Amino acid sequence: MPQVCVVVPTYNEAGTIGELLEALESLGLDLHILIVDDGSTDGTIELVEEASQRHGNITLLERGEKLGLGSALRDGLKAALNLGVELVVTMDADLSHGPLELPRLLERASPHRIVLGSRYVEGGRIEGWSLYRRLVSWVANLLARLLTGVPSRDSTTGYRCYGVEAVRGILPHLRGVGYELQVEILSVAHRLGVEIVEAPITFRERRRGRSKLGLGEMWSFLRTLLRLFLHSGEAGRALRFTLVGLSGLLVNEVVIWLLTELVGLYYLLSGAISAEVSIVNNFLWNNYWTFSDRGAGGLLSRFVRFNLTRALGIALTLLLLKLFTELLGLHYLLSNPLAIVIVFVFNYLLSFFWVWRQPPGGEGGSATS
Ligand code: GDD
Ligand code: MN
Repeated sequence: MPQVCVVVPTYNEAGTIGELLEALESLGLDLHILIVDDGSTDGTIELVEEASQRHGNITLLERGEKLGLGSALRDGLKAALNLGVELVVTMDADLSHGPLELPRLLERASPHRIVLGSRYVEGGRIEGWSLYRRLVSWVANLLARLLTGVPSRDSTTGYRCYGVEAVRGILPHLRGVGYELQVEILSVAHRLGVEIVEAPITFRERRRGRSKLGLGEMWSFLRTLLRLFLHSGEAGRALRFTLVGLSGLLVNEVVIWLLTELVGLYYLLSGAISAEVSIVNNFLWNNYWTFSDRGAGGLLSRFVRFNLTRALGIALTLLLLKLFTELLGLHYLLSNPLAIVIVFVFNYLLSFFWVWRQPPGGEGGSATS
């Protein structure tokens, strides 16, 4: 009985599927290979059937019509559970995911864990991608981290090894039918406390056939991220950050009044002191409330970084105020709140990704070892 099932979704991949199957066979591992095809019309099906006559361990699941990558992966995972294997690998059919790297994923696998073949950890690489494609992937991964709270650096990768126990727990919660399923799986896994680790891979752009990732796929990816944002703890985090910001305004106002009226300081000196007092206020609330789940790094270095983001924030506010007023011709009373809102988002991003940054594997942080 093979312990590993390799699930390969295919849609018109005749240019590479034969070579991929032979490469997997020659690894000499005890694998079961499951091809999930969505009505390919280019001869993919015939090539798989041929290969499965030569090798006894290949199954073809024909779905007949294009129902989406995510839906194909879900069917594949379900079928793999019924095979009674211990691990399920998913990979693309276009040789972007190197079969020779499979053993390295398996090395780190276990029944309760997900191993991501990651392009964005040390040792991971991308070959042959255009600047546009790199940018799309970078933004997608940044948004995924920001909106779902999953700490992985590569949450859109399709080269993965799932432990069956992890699959069993996650499957019932999934809804995605397209590319968005990849991040949905990780978001659910994160919520259920499933361990996620990353192992470096080299992603090579396909040399045959065409990518199926279009604008429609990107749109449903964004919609899914918004839904996950509302269901994960991340919406609450953004709300806490906002409330802390408002509390800072109040603290600032009270302190400047106290120092000027009761202590008798010159109001500009009071203003400088009250600004720093409100920064300390915001820092403490954010540290022990907004980002209380992020303990990495020393308190002092976090405080220094937080102060730097505020200094940067002031500079950016003034710059935007000038741009909006003089370049766009807006009234300065309109430019100002616009600048403040933009800088607020900027502050949140810096706080999230820098001041209270999270190591790739979450607080344990052993994911890239
Ligand atoms: N069955 C089925 N149905 N398979 C599909 C479908 C579908 O609707 N759409 C795509 N596939 C298959 C392709 O045949 C290929 O084997 C694999 O899914 C990946 O599709 P590509 O079209 O090659 O995607 P890509 O290279 O643009 O995207 C890859 O990188 C992304 C991250 O940057 C994939 O690994 C994605 O999963 C990943 O999110
Ligand atoms: Mn591809």
